[in-house]
Parts: sequence; structure tokens; C-alpha cells
Amino acid sequence: MLRSLLLTLLLATPAAAQNLDSLLARMTLEEKLGQLNLLSANGRASPEQMQLVRAGKLGGLFNVIGAENTTPVQRIVVTESRLKIPLLFGLDVIHGYRTIFPIPLGEASSFDPDAAEATARAAGQEAAAFGINWTYAPMVDIARDPRWGRIAEGSGEDPFLGSMMAAARVRGFQQTIFATAKHFAGYGGAEAGRDYNETEISERTMREIYLPPFKAAVDAGVASLMSAFNDIAGVPASGNAWLTGTVLRHEWGFKGFVVSDWTSIAELIQHGVAGSQAEAGRRALMAGVDMDMQSSIYADSIAALLRANRIPMAFVDSAVMHILRAKQRLGLFRDPYRVRTAPPNAELRAIARRVAGESIVLLKNERSLLPLDPRAGTIAVIGPLADNKEEPLGPWHTQGQAADVVTVLQGIRSRASGVQVVYAQGAGVEDTSTAGFTAAVAAARQAKVAILVLGERGDMSGEAASRSALDLPGVQEQLLEAVAATGTPVVLVLINGRPLILPWASDHVPAIVETWFLGVEAGNATADVLFGDVNPSAKLPVTFPRVLGQIPLYYNHRNTGRPPDVNNKYTSKYIDVPVTPRYPFGFGLSYTTFGYSNLKLNTARARVSDTVTATITVTNTGSREGTEVVQLYVRDEVASVAPRLRELKAFRRVTLKPGESRAVDLRVAVRDLWFIGLDMKPVVEPGTFRVFVGPNSVEGQEAVFELVP
Ligand code: BGC
Repeated sequence: MLRSLLLTLLLATPAAAQNLDSLLARMTLEEKLGQLNLLSANGRASPEQMQLVRAGKLGGLFNVIGAENTTPVQRIVVTESRLKIPLLFGLDVIHGYRTIFPIPLGEASSFDPDAAEATARAAGQEAAAFGINWTYAPMVDIARDPRWGRIAEGSGEDPFLGSMMAAARVRGFQQTIFATAKHFAGYGGAEAGRDYNETEISERTMREIYLPPFKAAVDAGVASLMSAFNDIAGVPASGNAWLTGTVLRHEWGFKGFVVSDWTSIAELIQHGVAGSQAEAGRRALMAGVDMDMQSSIYADSIAALLRANRIPMAFVDSAVMHILRAKQRLGLFRDPYRVRTAPPNAELRAIARRVAGESIVLLKNERSLLPLDPRAGTIAVIGPLADNKEEPLGPWHTQGQAADVVTVLQGIRSRASGVQVVYAQGAGVEDTSTAGFTAAVAAARQAKVAILVLGERGDMSGEAASRSALDLPGVQEQLLEAVAATGTPVVLVLINGRPLILPWASDHVPAIVETWFLGVEAGNATADVLFGDVNPSAKLPVTFPRVLGQIPLYYNHRNTGRPPDVNNKYTSKYIDVPVTPRYPFGFGLSYTTFGYSNLKLNTARARVSDTVTATITVTNTGSREGTEVVQLYVRDEVASVAPRLRELKAFRRVTLKPGESRAVDLRVAVRDLWFIGLDMKPVVEPGTFRVFVGPNSVEGQEAVFELVP
């Protein structure tokens, strides 16, 4: 019996894994610490970095651009270093390498994980053609505050949608390169939306809201996680044994490696939790941060800590093994160069255009102003972003190039080739001068319709780009109002990286189209939607508030003991603005309309091991084919911890011809209806659950089922 158990254990240990043990045994301390050391290059490795590579003192490099620069470095490893342990080549391939796809927040609007997987796969393949084997994406931070610029890089406010997108992107990238789920964790909870700011996140909210997308990435096999800059209630994420130890390793069984964010280990000193570099290194390593990005603290300080018996060797060894195992899993020992062939450009651009079209949210369309008839008459295209090639690339576009971008003006011109298209810039994004308004107003006057392309520059969102106002920068609002005053119908096309707050436009402009930063195919995809070649189907992955003072505003909130009641002053509301959002989570229009009827659950009573199926009839009640994102939300009516009023638990994209009806099934595993109980453990409690199925987070049909013990 014992013999057969031993035999099974032996067989279960892959031969290669045993080789890693012997490799570890042969490593000097310097070589071990080298594996934990990650440095940024400036396009190519510097002579000093080459020296480190030769001496086995680097585990990876990032920002080495192009295979002509990665290959020679790897050749040094393979031919000149003692142990020939190949390097990881990292890069922030966030939403494309050279072919830039929509920003992740835009792509999340598609509610189409297959689309996210397709762009991540394509981005990974293209990056691998340039020698990259590791990306610092997907960014899976939940964000409830649009002032925070990095909201652009994630999937918005919802843990379920965020988890689906996280897993899809991991699957996509990891077909060719390694992915990194970042920033672990709570980075999106920055107080007041100020980047790098402290967070005050309860363990319950951490587990229910911020952690699920990381768990989804881990379950999808993500190779690495990046520890965040922020602290959580005073405990910095890059020196947080609860996060990177208890939760990640012990509860989730994560087998990959954790890399710090840029100098986030050294920043433990600024946080005030370490008095020296050595203390910072000790804290991070013992918390479970395996690789040190840019601080060089592990390389410089750990040896002395070991000598002073201030840190056990086992911590170093385990970090090294996490990295060696990852390199082995990636196949680097067999194939250190790993340069792959990129898909043909036409294929990449086709994906970019399709997914960009799926990412455009139609926010308003009075009297069916859209879609436009391309032959109807002169079109005025106005605004600082109308013919701008740089900004649609968004805040983080790696090797993306402005020359590759099709602008909205170009897209409209090529689609509406039979009619006159007049263009006026009107103003720059942040201009204070209104000198260009005269030409813009004149252009609008001679046109049947004016398309105003307004919003933010790419670098107004992303890292270190928090805003305290969420209106249109500069004189753009005045430009919009001046053009609207001509009486020519206005279509507002927004290009931006976060929810904007545009009360005047929402009240006065007949058509509003949210395009985010769509990437290289921005202009074509926008024209596809404006002229109806693509019927918009996207839905908001984040709430759009009415006014700044409502922030943070998100759909999955609790009821409070005094839910808002306009007839009762002493309830939870404002005296000067409704509590409701301008555009709710999950909202987005189409050129057709959809009716929902006949919601049925397959059971009135369920046990925790069951799956409940909701079936609803969705009918295309308009005159065009269209795709609807059917959304299912659940509310736990009574629980030991105040439940959230709605939580997204399933969604499905359904394409219907005019007049067509379909019975659509959405499934929810009852065990997924957990929350963090009074004892801080996940629990599903018996009782009544209300199910909502509809077009967004505020409408829909309802049904209930009873969860029986
Ligand atoms: C960002 C990370 C990024 C890293 C490397 C940091 O400043 O926070 O998201 O991956 O730099 O470029």
C-alpha cells in the first residue's frame, strides 16, 4: 500500500520538475537573486544590463523592443551565462502591440468575452513576433470612480463582467505569451480617484468586489500577478502577506509568480512600513512578492539579510522556483527565442474593426436621428478629435502608431463618398480660445447634420491621469453649444477613457455615441455605426453619474435602512440631484428595439448544488436586425449581511431579425450566489432570491425562487 502510494507520488512528479530542483541546487545565491531581479530597458538592453545578463543576475527585462533587440540578449544568456536560464521579456501589451484594439473599458462594453479573447490572442501573437514573451495585462482592477484615470485599462465596476473579461483575456494572451493579472489588489479603490492613493476596503468588499476577477484569472491559468502600489487600510499590497500569501497561495492555490509593480517594493519606505531598503525587501519577499520590478532591492539587500538570519533561505528558494517553473511552463528552456509569426495585417485590422464596432455604446438617439443616410446631404464633421490620429490609440498603446489610425473624418469620408463632407476643427482638446468657432458654425450651417467629435486626449486617462472634473476639457462644451445653436441636428461622438459627465449634452443633443478610445480602426468602426452598417449592441460596463458629487456611484449597492424616497426627507438622497445615474450600468441603445416577456424559472425551489435556468422571450420589435445583451441580475431578499440590490450573474448576446422572437436561456449556479458572511467566509443562505432579466441594471422582468436547505 505504502509502496504504491510512493510510486504514484513519484510518477506524479514530472521529470522536468525534478530538473528544476537540481537546477536550484546548483545556483549560487547571486544567481538565485538574479532570477528575482527585473529591470526596464529603454528600447534595448544597456551595456550594464548585458553584463548582468552574462553574470546570471537578471531574471527578465522589459521594454526591450523588437526581436532584433531581444534575440541577442537571449543569445548571451544561452551562450555565455553559466546556467543558461532564459530571460522573460516583458512589455505592457495592454490592448494591442502595433495593431491597437479598443481600450479594455471600451471592449468590456461589448459584453463579449470572445471578442476580448480574440484581441488578446492577436495582441499576444503580434507581440511574440517581436520577441515579447510576457505581457503586463490584463488589468483586472474593479473601478467605481471615474476620476481615476486607470479605469480605462480595466473592465469597469462589476466583478462578474470583470471576471469573464479577465479569464477571456488570459486565455487569449496565453495562447502565445504569458499574461499578468494586475494590480493585486484594490488599486482601483484609490480614495477620491487619485492615482496611487490609499484605499479603505473592508475584507468583505475586497472578497466580493475587488478579488473575483483575480480569482478568475488564476482559475484561467494566469502565469503571474502584479502586486499593486496602493495600501489597503494601511497595509501596502506589495508587502501584504494576507493578500499574496493567505488568499493567493493558500486559498486559491496559485502556482505562478508574483511580480511587484514598478519600484513598489522600494515604495514600502515611502508608505512608512519599512525604514530601509533591506526592510522593504524583507517585507515584500516574506509576503510572497517573487520578483522585484525596478527596485533592485532583492539583488542588493537580501544577501545581507540572509547572513544576518533575518530571512530564511526558503523564502528565496520558493520565489526562485516560482519563476523557474514559469519559464519552464512557457517552454523557454526548450525554445529560448520564441519568436512567433504575427497574423497578417489584414486579419489584425479586421479584428480591430469588428471589436471596435462592438464596443460603441449608443447612449441617446432621439427621433431616430441615427443611423444617417449616407446620401442625405452635406455632413459637417467638427471637433478637436474628428481628424486626430493620435488620441484614438488611448493612454497605453505600446508600439501603436498614429499613422495607422483611421480618423472619424476619414471613416465618414470613405463611407459617405457620394456627399459633401465639410470639416472644421473648432478648437483643440484643451484650448481656451474660441477663434475656431466661426468656421465650425459655418460648416454646421451648410450641413444636414453636424457630427461633433469631442472628448479627451489619450493621456488624460490611464496611469497618473486622475481628473477632478469629468466634463469636456477646454472650450469643447461651448463649441458643442455653439454648433447646436445653428439648429442643425447634432450627433455627439465621444472619444474618451472614462465616464464623462455631460448634463447639457444629455438634455439637449439628440444623439450621443460613446466610442471610448477605439484604436487603429476607430474611424471606420465609428462610421460603420453612424451609417448603420453595424447596429450598436454595446452596454455600459460602468455607471455614468449625473453630477460629480454622486461619485462613487455604482449599480450593485445596498438598500440602506432608509432607501431614497422623494416624499420623505429623512431618506438616503441629495437635496439637489436625484440619486439615480445619468446612464446606468448595462445601458445601451440599438437602432432596433427589443421586447422582453414571459420570464420563467425552471424551478421555484432550488438547492445550493442546483443550477437555476431563467428563460425569457426576447423579441426584436423594431425594423432592423440587432444584437441585444440580455442581462440577468439576482437579489438575495434577506440575508445575515445586507444584500446588494442587484448583482449581475449571467448575460448573453442574442442576434434577432426584425420581428423575430427567441426564448433565451440564462443559467446561474446557486453556489455562485455567495456573499461574505458574518464570519468572513463565503456563504449561500437559504431564502428567497429575486431574479431580474432585462436590457440593463434598472429594467427587466422579475421572478423569484426559494433556496431550500
Ligand atoms: C504600472 C504598471 C505597469 C508597469 C510597467 C507601472 O507604472 O502601474 O501597470 O505594468 O509600470 O510598465
